[in-house]
Amino acid sequence: MSKKIIMDCDPGHDDAIALILAGAQNSSLDILAVTTVAGNQSVEKNTKNALNVLEVMGRGDINVSVGATRPLLKPASFASEIHGDSGLDGPKLPEVPALKPTQKQAVDVIIETLKQSEEPVTLVATGPLTNIATVLIKEPNITQYIDSITIMGGGTFGNWTPTAEFNIWVDAEAAKRVFESGVRINVFGLDVTHQVLATDQVIGGFREIHNPIADFVVELLEFFKSTYKTHFNMDGGPIHDACTVLYLMEPELFTMQHTHIDIEHQSLLTYGTMSIDLNDVTNKEKNAFFATAVNVPKVWKLMNKMLASYGKNNS
Ligand code: RIB
Ligand code: CA
Repeated sequence: MSKKIIMDCDPGHDDAIALILAGAQNSSLDILAVTTVAGNQSVEKNTKNALNVLEVMGRGDINVSVGATRPLLKPASFASEIHGDSGLDGPKLPEVPALKPTQKQAVDVIIETLKQSEEPVTLVATGPLTNIATVLIKEPNITQYIDSITIMGGGTFGNWTPTAEFNIWVDAEAAKRVFESGVRINVFGLDVTHQVLATDQVIGGFREIHNPIADFVVELLEFFKSTYKTHFNMDGGPIHDACTVLYLMEPELFTMQHTHIDIEHQSLLTYGTMSIDLNDVTNKEKNAFFATAVNVPKVWKLMNKMLASYGKNNS
């Protein structure tokens, strides 16, 4: 039985890989909709990238709807130094995508899709949580239709400030609202995503698959690796966002701890910091499952299998 998901994203190299894995022929996930949000780049650029990636995947059957142009309160902040000016630098992609977005706003599409589904739907969020928070604010009773909110974000350390991770830092007010929703939240933070590094050796393995999608992923990862070397002196690009869909396909790849998570949204110094009460010192209600460990070899094994499932002609 496939698990129904909606992917809210800001492609973004690792968002693109999450889409490719979730949309693979042998995926156990059924993507009902893709929605885009301002984050890595403007929502216009992120939407163009999502459309181009779905075209490369041969998944023009999946609709893309445009979301928030900026966070709930703050002005927009982009990560051009990591993902490039296009938001998906590296591979050569059409300036005008063959696919077009829907005319509906992302938040309305998420609400409609949730209500129309015959079973609860998992919201996969791999960018700032602006769209997800807006859904919860606009339609408080929507939580009954949500199986879980599974996010890439946060962690016990930061990559955008010393203590804040980018997705949470872009819109901490939105993140706080999501963690107060009462919905099950699965959190993949930097503690695990910085362990799944696409190094030369890992990329070399994907290069041996020899199909157009694997070749496309190699191009994505070569660029991503280069910016992580420049900015973080890391020997591989962390496939942050892919951890969400890999967990949904094979939960046993990750160790999850039930804990209390809150988000700092008032401090100038620590805005966007994720407070994760792993030692239960506050004795507050546990509202999230936080990934504390990952089986890295099994991640690459699964990713290889998913990429190899794409045919020689992307279908
Ligand atoms: O901090 C990593 C996150 O920020 C990932 O989702 C990446 O795509 C960027 O959005
Ligand atoms: Ca992302």
